Amino acid sequence: MRHQYHPLGFEGSRIAQGFWRTHEWNMSASERLGFIEACLDFGVTTLDHADIYGDYQCEVLFGEALKLKPALRDKMEIVTKCGILLPSDNRPDIAVHRYDYRAKHILESVDQSLAKLECEYIDTLLLHRPSPLMDADEIAQALDLLFTLGKVKHFGVSNFSAAQFDLLQSRLDAPLVVNQLELSPLALQHFDDGSLDHAQRHVVTPMAWSPLSGGALFSGKDEKTLRVRQVLMAIAESMQISIEQVVVAWLLRHPSGICPVMGSGKIDRLRLVVESHDLVLSDDDWFRVWVASQGHSVP
Ligand SMILES: NC(=O)c1ccc[n+]([C@@H]2O[C@H](COP(=O)([O-])OP(=O)(O)OC[C@H]3O[C@@H](n4cnc5c(N)ncnc54)[C@H](OP(=O)(O)O)[C@@H]3O)[C@@H](O)[C@H]2O)c1
Repeated sequence: MRHQYHPLGFEGSRIAQGFWRTHEWNMSASERLGFIEACLDFGVTTLDHADIYGDYQCEVLFGEALKLKPALRDKMEIVTKCGILLPSDNRPDIAVHRYDYRAKHILESVDQSLAKLECEYIDTLLLHRPSPLMDADEIAQALDLLFTLGKVKHFGVSNFSAAQFDLLQSRLDAPLVVNQLELSPLALQHFDDGSLDHAQRHVVTPMAWSPLSGGALFSGKDEKTLRVRQVLMAIAESMQISIEQVVVAWLLRHPSGICPVMGSGKIDRLRLVVESHDLVLSDDDWFRVWVASQGHSVP
């Protein structure tokens, strides 16, 4: 599968794999290594993490696997995130579930991620969610330092509005290269709120989190989900492919260059969507999904 080359220097695979659910996969370290190697073999080289995943343990599980074959490090782009504080048994120092973008926290969080991931650098660090208290000048100082120290190569954000993105960018020397957003046939809000227009204008890669709505596309019983699933099944049947393949083709069809971050722990599911990554959905089918999700025809 081809890579996406970002004019501002960021490089990533067309489809990414997320590690949010690693702790649920019930894999030994060598099985996790096998999973990572399979991702890389498929050309899925962008691997998405966050400090908080699995109660702060998913990065550890990844690092344990990578330690078994450190030479793999340079074959992948590691994305991780910071900024959410999550009280947990693993972090008794955290009292309140909240956000923290003080320079001290950003710097400490990156050091902890590097140690857990068994890495010397992070390819792309994302600010996980916008905070009402974030101070763009203070954040910029921390990010500049991380870049100068060689700990992080690129920066991006997640769940940021266009205005929040612009505010932070206005204080940074380095370009923000990613905005990771919830994008799926059941989550259309960012197709309509200017986020994807903004991404195209500024050549920012939109990464789609929970592209299959975290599995709800297959199990949800509400009216909207039933409507969307029915349309996806009809398209899948007519094209002789699976629902996952239709959804990924639907996301890849968007002109902003969406990079879906797949979350399954079953490697064959990833293999399937990678094999069909150049499959093109007709505009008729694209709009059938859109209309089913909106619940009404286009005006
Ligand atoms: N930036 C953010 O705020 C944010 C938020 C959430 C997630 N993320 C990132 O996005 C990544 C992907 O999120 P996600 O895990 O929700 O992605 P997803 O691909 O939408 O959902 C994955 C879930 O769907 C299930 N699934 C997949 N195919 C299925 C099928 N055919 N039938 C039934 N179930 C199926 C998987 O189960 P199996 O494992 O059994 O296949 C898994 O539980 C995360 O790993 C994380 O890196 C970021």
